[in-house]
Order: sequence, then C-alpha cells, then structure tokens
Amino acid sequence: MKIAVLKERAAGERRVAATPETVKKFIALGNSFAVESGAGAAASISDEAYAEAGAEIGTAEATVAKADIVLGIQAPDAALLKGAGTGAMVAALFDPFGNAGVVDNYAKAGLEALSMEFMPRITRAQSMDVLSSQSNLAGYKAVISAAEEYGRAFPMMMTAAGTIQPARVFVMGVGVAGLQAIATARRMGAQVSATDVRSATKEQIQSLGAKPIFVEEVEGIEGEGSGGYATEMSDEYKAAQAKLVSEHIAKQDIVITTALIPGRAAPQLISDEQIATMKPGSVIFDLAVSQGGNVAGSQADQVVDKHGVKIMGYSNTPAHLAADASALFARNHYNFLSAFWDKGQGKPVLDEEIGDAIRLTQGGAIVNERLKGAA
Ligand code: NAI
Repeated sequence: MKIAVLKERAAGERRVAATPETVKKFIALGNSFAVESGAGAAASISDEAYAEAGAEIGTAEATVAKADIVLGIQAPDAALLKGAGTGAMVAALFDPFGNAGVVDNYAKAGLEALSMEFMPRITRAQSMDVLSSQSNLAGYKAVISAAEEYGRAFPMMMTAAGTIQPARVFVMGVGVAGLQAIATARRMGAQVSATDVRSATKEQIQSLGAKPIFVEEVEGIEGEGSGGYATEMSDEYKAAQAKLVSEHIAKQDIVITTALIPGRAAPQLISDEQIATMKPGSVIFDLAVSQGGNVAGSQADQVVDKHGVKIMGYSNTPAHLAADASALFARNHYNFLSAFWDKGQGKPVLDEEIGDAIRLTQGGAIVNERLKGAA
C-alpha cells in the first residue's frame, strides 16, 4: 500500500496527519509512505525528518499519485486527490454534518471517506479517537490562554506586601476537554468548580478536587447517556440551569465553556445579562465557539470586551499546540489502521462495528446510516 499525507490547506490549520514516528511504523507494516514537502513545517517537523524516517518527499501531485490510503487532519478537497488509486481510503475529519458538499464530492470521486469524528465511543476505539486526543489538549490550552488574558494570578500568593486570593475558575461541560481544563486550572492553583448535564460527571469533578455545581430539582442525564454524549435538554432544565449559573457565575474570575451536542449547534449557556453580572477583568473562554458558541457574543479568534469581561475562543484550539496535537492525531491514525491490518492481504480490513460507523462514502455513493438519517 502507498500511504500519503498532504500539507493541510485549511486556514489556520497547523497540524499534520503523520509524524516521523508513525511513518516508520507504517513502513514497518510493509507500506511505502509519501509526504508533501512542507507538510510538517507548522508543527515543527522538517522534510528531512520525514525523509530520515523513510518517507518520500514531493509535490502534492506526486504524493497522492496512486496512493491507496490518504491520511489527513481535515479532509483534503476531493479535487486534490484525482491521481490517487481507484477507491482510495481517506481517513480525516470530514465535519460530515456541516460539510455535505465535501462528502458529496468524495462520493462522486469514488473515494472511501473515513470520518475520524464518527469513531464509536467504545473501549477498544479509545486509542483511535481523535476527538478525545484533540479535546484533551484543547481543554489545557483554553485555561492557559484564559490565564494569559487575565490580569491577575491563578494561585494564592502570600507575600510581604499582602495576600493575593486564588482565581476562581468555573468549567461548564465536563467531557474530555472540561476534565483537562479542571485538572490544568487546579495544577495552576485556582479554586475550581464545574457543571454538566450528565450526572456521571459529578464524581469525576470531585475526584479532581473541584466542586460540582449541579441542577438538582430537575432531572438531567443519568449515567453516561448514549455513547457518553449529551442530548438537548428540556426547557424546564434549561431554565433551572440558567438560574443556577447566574448565581454562581457572578463570583467567578474565569469561565471555560466546552458544551457540545453532536450534530447540533452548541447550546447557549451564558447570556449577555449573565456576562454583565461578572466582575470587570474576568475572562470567558468559549471552546465551542466554532460550533455556534456557548457564550453570547463570542467570536472565533477574537477577544471581545463585553461589560468589562473578555470573551475569547479559537476556531481551532488544538492547532495552537500543533506539535503535540499532530503527534497524538498521527498515533490515532496509526492505532486505527494497524488494529485492522490484515497481514495476508497487506491492507486494512475494517470490521462492521467501526467500519460502518466511520465510512461515509464508498463505490460512488454515500453509505453512512447516521448521515443518511440526518439528510
Ligand atoms: P462533548 O465534546 O460532546 O461535550 C462536552 C461536554 O458538554 C459533555 O460532557 C456534555 O455532557 C456537556 N454538555 C452538553 N450540553 C450541556 C449543557 N447544556 N450544559 C452543561 N454541559 C453540557 O463530550 P466529550 O468530551 O466528547 O465526552 C463525552 C463523554 O464521552 C465523556 O464521558 C467521555 O469520557 C466519553 N468518551 C468515551 C470515549 C470512549 O470510550 N472511546 C472516547 C471519548 C469520550
């Protein structure tokens, strides 16, 4: 098999889908590997480092020529893959619900699109899950970036000139990113509280030394919900949550919001009136900003000042840690394909549970049930 990795073309994308480590491992499975010149530059990986690992470096055209598998962070335009082998597999982020045009083009081109964000949330797929690996880094970066904008320190400091109180950090949405945000803020010495709609997160919040803030009078999501994901909440729940948040948020210095609902716009968790109750100089980092945002008025890649509160968020947070994000994404790709490697056939043969979940297009048609259901 020939495996190819192109330079990412989306604006602001600094990650790359393979590292010298994964190139070596794929070659050890009996493949050849091609990398477009400059593909790793923004993640601090030189062409020479890929070449030393055994990859061929070339133009985009030469890289994809007759490729059997193309690995990406964000799916390349199907037009870029004209020279790839018939029915080539392309594993990357497709944003299938938001980017129907790209999926259609893959179907028309006869490519096999494998959407890494559709990886099922099952134990054996954990090491293949790019949403987890990237969200974890994003949760960390959100806290670091908010701290940078915050005009005060995080830890309590007792000095000869007097005591500085610790920052109060509130994390809304305790999935993978939220848990890392809690852990990071705690490590930096902040007083941390957190909330979620899934009751299973209460214990996780406590185990990280943070205080759970939960709606008690209206039922949330018991246990883990479907695949660990949240669903849209009732109006009654939303009203109770808004009241609870209003009381709590006025006392916070930093708020990190991470709430997402798969296939839908992110729920709005903080209104303009609530922002107005916060202390001037407080910072809100909206990790959901690229999916509609959890915070009224948040804008991607800008620091918006509202009522003296700074509201920020990046359109692509993991890209701000491009080297680590690439290393983990590349390993997710390797863990995925190598788990299905059929030594006899010298290629990956996906099983039904994972293959059917992530395969969007094959043989000229859209084949994904989840995507067909959404149409
Ligand atoms: P996510 O990115 O879809 O959402 C982030 C968090 O926001 C979730 O905890 C969600 O419950 C919360 N949320 C949604 N609406 C909210 C609202 N209105 N108010 C407050 N919070 C709200 O979630 P993520 O990070 O992808 O993880 C969800 C779960 O899936 C976790 O329990 C995680 O451990 C599990 N998981 C399992 C995997 C596996 O077994 N392979 C892989 C990754 C995650």
